[in-house]
Amino acid sequence: MTATHDAAKALFRSLTGQEPAGVWSAPGRVNLIGEHTDYNDGFVLPFAIPHRTVAAVGARDDGRIRVASTFADDAVEVSIDELSTLFPTLRQAQGPSDETQPAVPEWAAYPLGVAWALSLAAPGLDATGVDIAIASDVPVGAGLSSSAAIEGATASALNDLWSAGLDRTALARVGRRAENEAVGAPTGIMDQMASMLGEADAAIFLDCRSLEAQLVRLGVAEAGLEILVMDTRVKHAHSSGGYGERRAACERGAAIMGVPSLRDVSVADLVRAEDLMDDVTFRRVRHVVTENQRVLDTVRTVREQGARAIGDLLVASHASMRDDFEISVPELDTAVDTALAAGALGARMTGGGFGGAAIALIEADAVQAVSDAVTAAFAASGFDAPHLFTVTPAAGAGRDA
Ligand code: GLA
Repeated sequence: MTATHDAAKALFRSLTGQEPAGVWSAPGRVNLIGEHTDYNDGFVLPFAIPHRTVAAVGARDDGRIRVASTFADDAVEVSIDELSTLFPTLRQAQGPSDETQPAVPEWAAYPLGVAWALSLAAPGLDATGVDIAIASDVPVGAGLSSSAAIEGATASALNDLWSAGLDRTALARVGRRAENEAVGAPTGIMDQMASMLGEADAAIFLDCRSLEAQLVRLGVAEAGLEILVMDTRVKHAHSSGGYGERRAACERGAAIMGVPSLRDVSVADLVRAEDLMDDVTFRRVRHVVTENQRVLDTVRTVREQGARAIGDLLVASHASMRDDFEISVPELDTAVDTALAAGALGARMTGGGFGGAAIALIEADAVQAVSDAVTAAFAASGFDAPHLFTVTPAAGAGRDA
């Protein structure tokens, strides 16, 4: 049990005056490589991190759901029957919006969206009312999937309490549906799968078309290495702007190539692609196609030679995101360039981009030197101080108590 577990339980007690029926948690993630490939049916290689979101949950008998969190002043309470009318995104899909409906603060759309999506995924469910108290130490807006962690903790809890019997992949789909349709962020399934399937010292090699997942032992500590997270503190949000535009460009590129998704385009096809589309669309396509190949190369390299050998693939991935997909920002480039100059074996931004965090693969005895160099470079550029910490691959979602 961690301080986050204690915080969730204390919040539950202050909300209800009772002890929770149980405590569930789910982690954030770092993506080692494979960015913006998930919604193109491609490959990703994320791992769960030790930072977790904890949900302390108990049943109530009045058919209402109340969610509270340590990062919001007020709890939100609704009846289970009204879940499908709560979210502006769903209301739009149903026709003209009804302004008399209560607005749900965005943070509450994650757990309530999960309750909604779970009840649809397991029809006939006897969904009782619940109180849910949430605490988290996953940094928000850092590209480390704080949202998938909320979804994973809530989905695991409700799956158990409501005896829904969904497996981990189904719970990941529930989380993504909440994110896509309740919150309105058009994301893929990588984050939810990483949060569900994480294992100590392993990354998850996921085929986002079949959802087949293989664990890839990283052996980072044995190799004398560390993975440093460099959170730039530039906040991002995928429910607005650039993320959806990138996704639309990928869909356009696939349509022009006459394939269901960019997963079906190979590196050899890029010569033909270049003649068929405008420069921007082509560069978006080239990023996804080469990134898929880099994931496959990374998995093979880790298995054959160990994590120490993947540095160049990480660097190539960052260059592709910076130049072709154009989702980096100066703070991320500074973090990556400085880490490499200070001796990192490889570095890249991680997550959706437009802010958030970068990672660096470094020798364990170089953590301090690289951290000092990045901190100094941020100060010299007039950026806010970055938040730097090392992570090790950790366990996925589950019941803790
Ligand atoms: C965000 C999304 C994921 C994925 C990444 C980019 O984290 O939630 O589905 O698309 O961006 O790789």
